[in-house]
Amino acid sequence: MKVIILPTADDVGDQAARVIIDGISSGTLSVLGVATGSSPLPIYRALAKYTGVDLTSLTAYALDEYVGLAKTHPQSYQSVINTEVTLPLSLDPTRVHVPDGSARDIDAACAAYDAAIANSGGIDLQILGIGSDGHIGFNEPTSSFASRTRVKTLAPQTRADNARFFDSIDEVPIHCITQGLGTIMEAKQILLVALGSGKADAIAAAVEGPITSMCPASILQMHPNVTVILDSAASSGLRLTEYYDYVAANLPAWQR
Ligand code: GLP
Repeated sequence: MKVIILPTADDVGDQAARVIIDGISSGTLSVLGVATGSSPLPIYRALAKYTGVDLTSLTAYALDEYVGLAKTHPQSYQSVINTEVTLPLSLDPTRVHVPDGSARDIDAACAAYDAAIANSGGIDLQILGIGSDGHIGFNEPTSSFASRTRVKTLAPQTRADNARFFDSIDEVPIHCITQGLGTIMEAKQILLVALGSGKADAIAAAVEGPITSMCPASILQMHPNVTVILDSAASSGLRLTEYYDYVAANLPAWQR
């Protein structure tokens, strides 16, 4: 894992956007995995500032969706991805995919989602945030490391964390569809971003803790190409920050 610690959320967004733009410019990134939540927002803001990079041919897959919210509900991830990603980046809406949380046959919709990702050639770069309990996507603690896209029950902590987007916690759906940990691990490259002290414990567990389903993000230690980009507050629980800074200051010439 490569860990990059930067002073502010905007720095995190700029650095992550540069990785994405480099991938697009070099032709290695045509399928982007997009995430909701507040942490990736600075990435989308930074990407929107790049001119001269055509994003219209990008295909995008979202990580997750609530079950039972209409697609048009302002807090459905379909709406959020549309407002925060598709519109500001001028992506082609027909190429932006979000799991269908209102499908009549949810299990079939989940299987179809995994199949669609595979048919697109797999995800070249997956953006991830992290939940305060270490979840990625909506894979809550004890999620199987082999899991595929499926229905999950949101942990009470996650519903409480996400209640800020709704009028009351009772409006936060109890169920969701999420790409599985096995699905996420098939992305060729992963970019995990975290902001703020509320993520410090989860980041410490994910990056330096044991690999355990109690912290689903810890599975990323098994992925060969993960970059974790943090603001200083989110890095405050890490023990090896000096080492990460030393690595960043001494990159081999061909990686600069
Ligand atoms: C939700 C999303 C996750 C996201 C997490 C953290 O649970 N399903 O993908 O990583 O929120 O969001 P935030 O960055 O707003 O803290």
